[in-house]
Amino acid sequence: MEKLVVTGPTQLKGEVEISGAKNAAVAILPATLLIDGVCTIENLPHISDIEISCEILEKLGAKITWNNKNSITIDTREIKTTKAPMDLTSKFRASYYIIGSMLGRKGEIEVGMPGGCKLGARPIDQHIKGFEALGANVTVEKGKINAKAKKLKGAPIYMDIVSVGATINVMLAAVLAKGTTTIDNAAKEPHIVDVANFLNTMGADIRGAGTDVIKINGVEKLHGDATYSVVPDQIEAGTFMLAAVATRGDITLKNCITKHLESITAKIIEVGGNVEDNIDSIRVWCNKRPNKAHIKTLPYPGFPTDLQPQMGVVLSLANGNSVINESIWESRFQYTDELNKMGAKITANGKTAFFEGVKKLSGAPVYCTDLRAGAALVIAGICAQGETDIYNLQHIDRGYEDIEGKFRKLGANIKRVTEE
Ligand code: EPU
Repeated sequence: MEKLVVTGPTQLKGEVEISGAKNAAVAILPATLLIDGVCTIENLPHISDIEISCEILEKLGAKITWNNKNSITIDTREIKTTKAPMDLTSKFRASYYIIGSMLGRKGEIEVGMPGGCKLGARPIDQHIKGFEALGANVTVEKGKINAKAKKLKGAPIYMDIVSVGATINVMLAAVLAKGTTTIDNAAKEPHIVDVANFLNTMGADIRGAGTDVIKINGVEKLHGDATYSVVPDQIEAGTFMLAAVATRGDITLKNCITKHLESITAKIIEVGGNVEDNIDSIRVWCNKRPNKAHIKTLPYPGFPTDLQPQMGVVLSLANGNSVINESIWESRFQYTDELNKMGAKITANGKTAFFEGVKKLSGAPVYCTDLRAGAALVIAGICAQGETDIYNLQHIDRGYEDIEGKFRKLGANIKRVTEE
């Protein structure tokens, strides 16, 4: 079993390069199924979700060449099956993007229910509602989703809730549909804009991505012969920004889009940190114990749920009492039990957690309960006095490229070891 051993406390200092966005990349890879050609994707994060995405595409018939660890050339001219491999699709959430893509490409797909972090109920009713509005027949039986359509037809779709996954999935299905689709109450996250930009680069006609109304004019086909670079990861960037504040360090993030980080910047300033925005890089530093704050997670451009646990570490160490309201996932406070083992004083009750700020954390053995919880525990370990052993690393490896290498470069005493 692998674990991360972190010995603290350390004030993080230096520069870190942000990787491509996981949540954009896991949608762009299945989106290549809509292309009858060859394309190159660059700035892919080197994480296990991407490796599994590539394996799924290969099983469907795509040919993939790795140009380096962050770039692939993918040939989707021949797709030989409409059955996605259940063992692989059950490993992560974004496997549901195979449905929208294959409905568009082949008019048919059978796929297992998606896996992913256990954050509470994760229904896909809005995805299904969207596919059905486009004319697909969708059944869910014995853990499998079957979707079929003779020819998808554009339609107006109103999303009952703001959903990243449903917005992207319906967008994928609508790209090759006949006529125009509008998605009302669409999610606006940077990765939605990135998937739309990728599809438009390949010949799609999508307008309004990044606003709450997206219009997709169906096109006959998507061409390949293009190279696309994935947008920098807003959540990885936010993770390092909050690590700078929690450790009272000074970090400059390279290769990030500061516009995507505004809600995080605002909260960092509120807790007494400093932010210098240099458009494609950002410097964050903090010279004092953070102030208390009140956080409510919201869809973009609100404070992201995927940075809630990392912010939780900052508030654990704040001067005063803080509250976090989690409005997206009902089980996103599992990490608080782990932080409490390290001396934090957090009481989580449903979707609300109360943080009584403590002066210091102490090292302890802790377990990642999901991906972002894992990142939070790494930050907590760097802040804590003594040794923190972090287990269940498969969660972290799904979404952070070389997390220990990046933190080590900033001065952290962190190593990955294999335990019998
Ligand atoms: N929802 C429904 N019905 C649906 C879809 C969603 O009720 O058909 C609900 C969910 O239960 C949730 C809310 O709507 O309460 C928002 O869910 P959303 O669909 O936006 O989430 P997702 O697409 O499953 C993506 C990210 C998550 C991130 C959320 C919210 C990917 C692969 N995952 O999930 O990322 O937390 O959006 O921003 O893009 C992570 O990276 O750690 C992660 C969990």
